[in-house]
Amino acid sequence: MKPVTAFEPHASVAWMPSWPRGQGELQARELFGRTFGAEPDGVWSAPGRVIIIGEHLDYNAGRTMSAATPHRTFLAARPRSDSRIRIVFDQATALPGTDGVWEGDLDDLAPEGLSGWHAYATGTLWALRERGYDGPGLDMAAATCIPVGAGLSGWGAMEAVTVLAADALWGLSLGGTEAGRLELAEVAYEAQNRYIGTPFGGLDQHTSLRCRDGEAITLSFAELPPPATRYALPFREYGLTLLITRTAHHSPLVDDQFIMRSRECAAAARLLGVDFVGRMAEESDALERVDGIEDGDLRRRARHIVTELRRVRAMEAELASTAPAHDRFTEIGRLMYRSHASLELDFEVSSPAQNRAVDAAYRAGALGSRMFGAGLGGSTITLVRRTDAERTAHRIREALHEAGDADPEFLLV
Ligand code: GLA
Repeated sequence: MKPVTAFEPHASVAWMPSWPRGQGELQARELFGRTFGAEPDGVWSAPGRVIIIGEHLDYNAGRTMSAATPHRTFLAARPRSDSRIRIVFDQATALPGTDGVWEGDLDDLAPEGLSGWHAYATGTLWALRERGYDGPGLDMAAATCIPVGAGLSGWGAMEAVTVLAADALWGLSLGGTEAGRLELAEVAYEAQNRYIGTPFGGLDQHTSLRCRDGEAITLSFAELPPPATRYALPFREYGLTLLITRTAHHSPLVDDQFIMRSRECAAAARLLGVDFVGRMAEESDALERVDGIEDGDLRRRARHIVTELRRVRAMEAELASTAPAHDRFTEIGRLMYRSHASLELDFEVSSPAQNRAVDAAYRAGALGSRMFGAGLGGSTITLVRRTDAERTAHRIREALHEAGDADPEFLLV
């Protein structure tokens, strides 16, 4: 058990602020100058993401709803006259594996054998070339305020920002149009799936490259690449905010568990006679058919897919509705709590610390709260009144502390 430090109820909670754009650009530019002794040609940036609802639906041909974080990764870059790649990352020392500058050659990149933080950038260059795009080697310096290991898809942002820099420096001119952005998101997704090798569903890359500030996007993974529907996120104008609690718990087994869940979902789909559970989830008898699955684990996994997809539809209806704001936000919050219960009990990917954070948010009067991301630790997302955010964060911290968890960190989206 972790040592428990003395609890100071009135001590301020730890907030993880986002950098203003200018500051992020400066950090990346300075890192580039210190490392390579030159000025970059430009600085690009890409956000992390939160999942509002629609968990584990991307790789099940379902629908997801996500938003970009104000926290971004900034990449300063410059083309070279050869095919070498050099990259430095301001968070590298915080991670196992490499630190300092990683150096390699575009022509040597191959999916096997490369791991570590740089693989998210180099894998993206590899994926671009696999799709027939090409250009010179690059010097790159990345700086980020996306907290590492918080489930905000810092790696998706690294892939996204690399593809944006290469788009500009290789003269591809894709980043300026919706269709071009979709193509870049597919490249970043291929880097994740084929080069890094974890079979994530694409939600991270498509959100980072396609979602704009102040909106949520629904991605429909029934079609590939997924079309997006955009919704204005009305929280700010009604004095609400999304409070992210980053619990200190993060399991190294998360990728293995993810692979296991995707296999279970595939097995459930076979029993239901479809290629993905999401394909039958909106039929009127979907829950009865799922109830007929004998294996309890597979039945629960499929039930999560069916009920979560319905919650995504209900959330879309609330965001599009003109009903009184109070009713809509109450319903949005309920959908979040129900999503959490489904992830905890049916999909079984929540962690004790995430459950405690959601319970504490509920007791503190939050409109809604749930775990998000792959699971097995990571963060929760809570819909609260802006004026209640600080107090809610205190209550969550207190509850986690009482249970012996290390102090969480908080950020606002
Ligand atoms: C991870 C993956 C996403 C998605 C979520 C679960 O974040 O990268 O593609 O599957 O888990 O909703």
